[in-house]
Amino acid sequence: MKVIILGAGGRGRNYTRFCRQYGAEIVGIADPDTKKLEKLAMDFNISEDKMFHDWAEIMAKEKFADAVINATPDKVHYVSTMEALEKGYHVLLEKPMSDNEQECINMVEKAEKKNVILMVCHVLRYAPFFEKLKEIIDEERIGQLVNIEMTENCAYWHFVHSYVRGVFRNETISSPFILAKSCHDLDLIGYLTGKKCLSVVSEGNLKYYRKENAPEGAPDYCLDGCPHETTCPYFAPRLYLKQISLVGWPTQTISADTSFAARYEALKNGQYGRCVFHCDNDVCDHQTAIFNMEDGLIASFNMTGFSSENTRTLRFYGTKGDIRGHLERGELEVFDFLTKEKEVIKIQYETIQSGHGGGDLRLLYDFLDGVDKKGTNLKTLARLSLQSHLMAFAAERSRKEGKRIYL
Ligand SMILES: NC(=O)c1ccc[n+]([C@@H]2O[C@H](COP(=O)([O-])OP(=O)(O)OC[C@H]3O[C@@H](n4cnc5c(N)ncnc54)[C@H](O)[C@@H]3O)[C@@H](O)[C@H]2O)c1
Repeated sequence: MKVIILGAGGRGRNYTRFCRQYGAEIVGIADPDTKKLEKLAMDFNISEDKMFHDWAEIMAKEKFADAVINATPDKVHYVSTMEALEKGYHVLLEKPMSDNEQECINMVEKAEKKNVILMVCHVLRYAPFFEKLKEIIDEERIGQLVNIEMTENCAYWHFVHSYVRGVFRNETISSPFILAKSCHDLDLIGYLTGKKCLSVVSEGNLKYYRKENAPEGAPDYCLDGCPHETTCPYFAPRLYLKQISLVGWPTQTISADTSFAARYEALKNGQYGRCVFHCDNDVCDHQTAIFNMEDGLIASFNMTGFSSENTRTLRFYGTKGDIRGHLERGELEVFDFLTKEKEVIKIQYETIQSGHGGGDLRLLYDFLDGVDKKGTNLKTLARLSLQSHLMAFAAERSRKEGKRIYL
């Protein structure tokens, strides 16, 4: 099994590791950021002849692998994937597929025409927590679903890292939050309920991280002597410098060299050292959407960037019982109206070896099994993942145009 990795960032690095664990051979890696490219090559012992500076350099060559893993930034997904599909590669594509509705549809059609696998990294479908939830729903333990509530609690530190200072902060370089992050949740709404979405209404805005909310005298960079150091929860040195060693996510993303001195330097005039009120961000910091699904089912989705917890919580209401869930704690509580009994199910995370509650690794292995024509359960083929993207585009239109949008 020969695999090409496009994008040597966080996701590309994860998939490289999992491919190696699986026993696949990495025959090409591409990234215009030389430092990241070289670091990935060095860490995984990938020779220089397999290193490329752009996805297009790889696609200009004759097909030389079985599959491509596309972990480039959102805006690069479409052209690179269309080229890879055209060349006959099976493609595992990071979400969101594209920030353009028609492009998402084009990719699905292209893969089907070329008869290759196009899978989208909706990793949560592979997380044991959501697999268990789906099993409970499919067994009709709470009868017919009537109403569901799902909340994406994005912790304040995660939100400012990715959506105020970071690469997903602005729609012109990334996509709206409900597409960039919450397409996972919208995907789960369709997957778990097995229902199609008919229409949506949504409200949301960028309420807080705006220039007019900057406290008096706050400079553009926290390290430029901000007088609010002790009172601002978003003060960058507190978020990124307190770890001395064992630097984890998100701190490891601010500089390739994670030493204290390099991180300090990165904050002095790099994007992660900026005052959260003086960034060029425009994505919503909170949003709510109500999806009208088939058969009278209503699904409400709430996302907030103002949470102490960094998790997803949910409540599913059925005709015979209800379910509460907390992803981070791995807890599902199933209540039966008839017997009044409550069962608490605990997902054991200790044995899970990858991000998204174990979903990252399991999805990748399933994709590679699919390419290898082993027995698979390809749960996130692009055609199946398409609905979540269409739901996100519709929610954005509703929010911006102030009206109900029919799908
Ligand atoms: N499935 C998930 O849950 C999940 C989680 C995080 C990110 N993502 C998605 O994964 C993708 C990558 O995210 P990331 O966090 O790894 O970002 P990242 O910025 O760490 O990595 C992206 C890499 O792509 C490289 N790149 C840019 N242009 C390129 C080109 N022309 N050819 C080859 N490489 C190019 C960048 O230099 C960068 O190193 C994004 O689409 C993101 O939305 C998905």
